Amino acid sequence: LFSRLSPTPADEPFAVNGAYIQDTYPDKVNLGIGVYRTSDGSPWPLRVVEEAEKQLYQASDVSRHEYLTIQGDREFLRLASNLVFGFDQEKQAQAEENKSRVVSIQTVSGTGANRLGAELLTRNLRPGCVWVPDPTWANHHTIWELAGVERKSYPYYDSATKSFDFEGTFRTLSSANTNDVVILHACAHNPTGADPTKEQWKMLAELCKTKGLIPFFDLAYQGFASGNLEQDAWAIRYFFNYNPRLEFCVAQSFSKNFGLYGQRVGALHVVTSTISEEVSQNLLSNLCHLVRGEYSMAPRGGSEIVRTVLGNETLKEKWYEDLVTMSERIRQMRQALFDELIRLQTPGDWTHILKQIGMFTYVGLSEEQVSKIRSKHHIYMLKSGRISISGLNESNVKYVAKGIDDVVR
Ligand code: LMR
Repeated sequence: LFSRLSPTPADEPFAVNGAYIQDTYPDKVNLGIGVYRTSDGSPWPLRVVEEAEKQLYQASDVSRHEYLTIQGDREFLRLASNLVFGFDQEKQAQAEENKSRVVSIQTVSGTGANRLGAELLTRNLRPGCVWVPDPTWANHHTIWELAGVERKSYPYYDSATKSFDFEGTFRTLSSANTNDVVILHACAHNPTGADPTKEQWKMLAELCKTKGLIPFFDLAYQGFASGNLEQDAWAIRYFFNYNPRLEFCVAQSFSKNFGLYGQRVGALHVVTSTISEEVSQNLLSNLCHLVRGEYSMAPRGGSEIVRTVLGNETLKEKWYEDLVTMSERIRQMRQALFDELIRLQTPGDWTHILKQIGMFTYVGLSEEQVSKIRSKHHIYMLKSGRISISGLNESNVKYVAKGIDDVVR
């Protein structure tokens, strides 16, 4: 029965991570998968998460393992959408009106939100194609391939300037058709760490409106990228307030900004242009239908942690501190790697390491150099040359810089 199956391509971040774990070399370095690591290379349960966990898991709560609703935990969803759209910073009446444009559902983290949104759009709008940035998080391809929608790419990265290729993006998307979906990384683009400027985001919003495109934001790094929640959601909020109104999706993940990788906490927010109870209810019922047939509902453990933190001002303050701890350490490691490459007089311009933001940098190694640095120095990264900055620390950054220096000479 199954003998006709052929293997599927391995998912690169997880494959590289697996190879790293197998490697017995004592000085091996993992710059592959996008997970936060402390200055001694360990995982970091956020302090605020540990505090919320203590508050939450009281054995006396006999309901603690009950089902959520199919939509998920509604209080979690309210807080999650406030975080994305900033409703809690708006005047009451404005906030109420704006909130009624958003339909939210809890998902199995960011991947689940991307997948559910893809399914919703595919079934109901039948987009001619989805435009994905080249390069992008590899899973965007898998998700839309499974949705059965043709994928086309727009040239996101200019390797000459090592930054976002606005002209190429704009030119390519100008040829898109009404109802085509456009995948946009809200901040800290994965894998390049290169983001559009505010002016460029404004022009992209206008383009989406004039061409009738459906923006689909992937928001995996809010607060983690810059340490500032507003700044990292700026593009989404701009699109939300764009006049005339845009309709779009946001896939929100709490994996990185809460360090809840394995808990699978996330939400899909669908923004409508109309304010209509009927439209919202129909939209929600369609989303619930898809979720129920797929996995009934998202898991509750992680979302309770997020809800506990976001619903409590003192814990929220502590979360902001934890976000700064993570983003600041990443910023310092960017600086340390840059300084070391300069000290070694490694050929090339390395300023992009400082300019790019978030967990990842396209360090600028060729596929051949990536293969060499892995076999010779046991330094693991994606074949595109994407490195996860959080894998760097005081003890290995010199070693990594020396490895880079060796393979580029
Ligand atoms: C990555 O790109 O390494 C992370 O976002 C992990 C993942 O889910 O792929």
